[in-house]
Amino acid sequence: MGLDVVVWWDKNDNNWKVFDDKCPHRLAPLSEGRIDQWGRLQCVYHGWCFDGSGDCKLIPQAPLDGPLVHSFSKACVGVYPSTVQNGIVWFWPNTDPQYKDILTEKKPPYVPELDDPSFLGETFTRDIPYGCDFLIENLMDPSHESSDSTQENSAKTPPRKHLFVFYCIPVSPSNCRLICLAPRNFTLWIDPFITRWMHHVMQNLVIDSDMYLVRVQEEKLMKAGPSNWHKVCFVPTKADTMVTLYRTWLKKYAGGQVVWGTQSIPSIPPKEQLMDRYWSHVVHCSSCTSAYKGLNALKISFQVFSVALVAILGATKPGMISIAARNTLAVAAILCFVGSKWLSHFIYKNFHFHDYNHAFK
Ligand code: FES
Repeated sequence: MGLDVVVWWDKNDNNWKVFDDKCPHRLAPLSEGRIDQWGRLQCVYHGWCFDGSGDCKLIPQAPLDGPLVHSFSKACVGVYPSTVQNGIVWFWPNTDPQYKDILTEKKPPYVPELDDPSFLGETFTRDIPYGCDFLIENLMDPSHESSDSTQENSAKTPPRKHLFVFYCIPVSPSNCRLICLAPRNFTLWIDPFITRWMHHVMQNLVIDSDMYLVRVQEEKLMKAGPSNWHKVCFVPTKADTMVTLYRTWLKKYAGGQVVWGTQSIPSIPPKEQLMDRYWSHVVHCSSCTSAYKGLNALKISFQVFSVALVAILGATKPGMISIAARNTLAVAAILCFVGSKWLSHFIYKNFHFHDYNHAFK
């Protein structure tokens, strides 16, 4: 939402806290700070410390016999009202004290299945290089979702329950974050064989499949003017009803777009950067990071084996080992080399960049 926030665990209150990411002293980012031994958030620039209410508890440079400058209201950090629901930290995007108790009156949308232990499913997040409004439009568009095999599967299993829950978070112009959950109350025979990172590889592929299309779509609508969506888009069939209603709603309440003030959308980056998976997902995901490291270690092992086997073959004089043994070593060296090359390609394609092309699917 264009807000810089620092989210930290307050062990004294046993709760997550969401603060303005701006030290009241000289505006250094508190997200670069640390939690001190008393569980307070400490700015690492000059060491000011703040408790979970945003009150300043220590200014190291203030003389002990001087005025209690840390107790001045200007020494406090802005605190966003926050709560945890469905395992997600939510915050009200305003630090004005009048909203201090807002979350007792207004609750984020609650999905009971996400807290139901009889449901299982993976959480997936990805930073998306186009606007939140376009992500929502993309996800609520049945005419393109109907070609998605996961939708077909869930439609074939009416007695069982399989939900798709999407949280779309506006971050900055042409940037948003998707949190996707798919709880279901049944298992499949294949479940034990599909690890979390494999699920994520598939979900990244689904996201990438529309990435470039939607980013270009956004660029064109921005040029035409977001409030002109109904004029520049021709939506004559029933299949577009949801999207049309959504755009009508967005125009009525927000002039057709998420309002970012003076900020404008950046130009479209090269595809390799636009669809990069490493920085938009892998580094934030413990499962994918482990798999990435493990597969890279395997690749390097293959390379080392391959070189070692070639070295052994080179150092072995004719007659020292049988021809069959020599051939076996040569084949093993080739297999290790091919294996390392294949892994290198696999890692790049699944953890960095997959140039999804609809024309070849
Ligand atoms: S800027 Fe944070 S303590 Fe100085």
